[in-house]
Amino acid sequence: MKNIVVLVSGGGTNLQALIDSQDRGEIKGGKITCVISSKDGAFALERAKKADIPTVVIPRKEYSDSKAYSEAILAELNRQKADLVVLAGFMTILDECVTKTYPYRIINVHPALIPSFCGEGFYGLKVHEKALEYGVKVSGATVHFVNEQADAGAIILQFPVAVRNDDTPETLQRRIMEKAEWKILPRAVSLFCEDRIEIKDGKAYVIREDD
Ligand code: GAR
Repeated sequence: MKNIVVLVSGGGTNLQALIDSQDRGEIKGGKITCVISSKDGAFALERAKKADIPTVVIPRKEYSDSKAYSEAILAELNRQKADLVVLAGFMTILDECVTKTYPYRIINVHPALIPSFCGEGFYGLKVHEKALEYGVKVSGATVHFVNEQADAGAIILQFPVAVRNDDTPETLQRRIMEKAEWKILPRAVSLFCEDRIEIKDGKAYVIREDD
């Protein structure tokens, strides 16, 4: 069984999708063993406690810079013996001390179709504001491995969602979560835990069950 450590900062609906998926027996070969939050009082912590998952708070605001913060996160990940780290609405970019220690072992869910509307400054509702500002007709979600560059690691899964004429950032965000994020994040986590993601030339490929 792989130890899955989930990093959160906010509401935790993606964490909830992982917990529900685990409860349905859909995360094969792994178990959520710890939830780490960058914010005290994040609602995601309540969701973890309700599911009897141990929680740790490492407040971002108590660290002077990203490097010092990342070192604290790294120490905790090592303590937890993490096999897979999942960024589920985690709003801090991790320094290379973490990404280099866990290559192809950290995955992130991003609420757009990478390489659109991604990179530094594109997070949460801002992503959907930018997509609507641009006028795209399709957006969606991406699950990818995390490397040294923001939102630039190998893509594991993507799912498209149509944009409606009357969408607001909030309605688009909600629909992308429901139709895309909450489905592809647990799916990618299970694929990882089942050793069904292959890396070739820096790209990720899902190994089909009948391959
Ligand atoms: C989700 O839409 C997630 O994709 C996004 O923040 C939201 C968190 O919601 N993450 C990013 O923008 C990271 N770049 P949640 O806390 O309810 O899961």
